[in-house]
Amino acid sequence: MSISSLFEPLAFLHGPPMRNRFMLAPLTNQQSEPDGVASEFDQDWIRQVAQSGYGLVHTCATNVEASGIAFARQLGIHSDDQLPGLTEIAASIRGGGALSSVQLHHAGHRANLRLGGVPSPASGRTIPGIAALTTEQVERIRDSFIAAAKRAERAGFDGVAPHGAFGWILSEFMSPLLNDRTDKYGGNLENRARLTIEVIDGIRRACGPDFQIGWRLSIERYGLLLEELREIVAEIFQRELIDYLDLALWDSAQIVGTGTFRGKTMLSVFTDLPRRGVRVGTAGKIMSAQRCAQLLEEGCDFVLIGRAGILERDFPLRVKANPLHESPALPVTADFLRQGGLSERFINHMRGWESFVQPGSP
Ligand SMILES: Cc1cc2nc3c(=O)[nH]c(=O)nc-3n(C[C@H](O)[C@H](O)[C@H](O)COP(=O)(O)O)c2cc1C
Repeated sequence: MSISSLFEPLAFLHGPPMRNRFMLAPLTNQQSEPDGVASEFDQDWIRQVAQSGYGLVHTCATNVEASGIAFARQLGIHSDDQLPGLTEIAASIRGGGALSSVQLHHAGHRANLRLGGVPSPASGRTIPGIAALTTEQVERIRDSFIAAAKRAERAGFDGVAPHGAFGWILSEFMSPLLNDRTDKYGGNLENRARLTIEVIDGIRRACGPDFQIGWRLSIERYGLLLEELREIVAEIFQRELIDYLDLALWDSAQIVGTGTFRGKTMLSVFTDLPRRGVRVGTAGKIMSAQRCAQLLEEGCDFVLIGRAGILERDFPLRVKANPLHESPALPVTADFLRQGGLSERFINHMRGWESFVQPGSP
């Protein structure tokens, strides 16, 4: 497939089409005010990516409850006080011509005590001395996801993407290792997937018919089972519960090491499924124009750009201008990022990512 295919529009089950096949992946950058209100640094970053030619821009992981916080200076969507900042973000993205989506996040057992978080495990065995959430508490968290989606809609976003990856609460509940509950949210796969399905279903009912729902899913670690996730994804596709699936791989070329699908690409385990009207994309080391085009050939409808979008804000525009474009090699100097317009806060955040900022680079 040629590079030009990346610039063809993509329709969704709900809402407006995406103008091309590039989504900016959710990227936490720890720049918000301590109360989760978007700061001038958040707005500046969003203004930059809004003008960068993406079809859809995700916000960073945005917490749906103050007690579900994971990161210092994390953006919040749990209070109406956060609405003006969120409204400005949505307007900037729309102004640049992209669709906008808030990534809805709750840290579950990994909520950060030092930031006022309340570790909220699915199981009483996960953190010694901390009891499992009660059924009522799980329902409260579900409702917080739905209330946050409503808030995103009021702020003017085109949609939301519940964060079902990396062991955060939705993937925690999905995991047979982290979820040994005996209520309706634990036990068999149907029960472990119930929180995710109720969140998605609740958002669909609470928000308007044009509101878009993405779902971010990761497969690795946290005791998640590929075969089970495939089964749930197949059902979600069949029932057309979401507009798009975002497969959060760390390497989009990853090969399955064990089990039924050993030797296949992780991606193909999901792209091989009948997807009805649901769109599918992936993230993971997508750092060149050619790799983007190749992923469409491998069955993706779109690609998610992470680190390449931090290195060069305008990655999609560069791909359009040059079919052989490649991201700069890592690590880069802090000055390189500074010259590209990245704030000191964001650069400091990136110093924590392995092999991204050159060690000792002032
Ligand atoms: C700085 C940084 C922040 C990230 N923050 C989030 C986040 O808030 N939510 C999320 O789901 N993934 C997050 N990720 C993962 C990315 O969205 C993406 O899936 C991952 O980096 C793989 O894509 P890449 O190889 O293009 O970077 C983050 C990654 C990076 C590098």
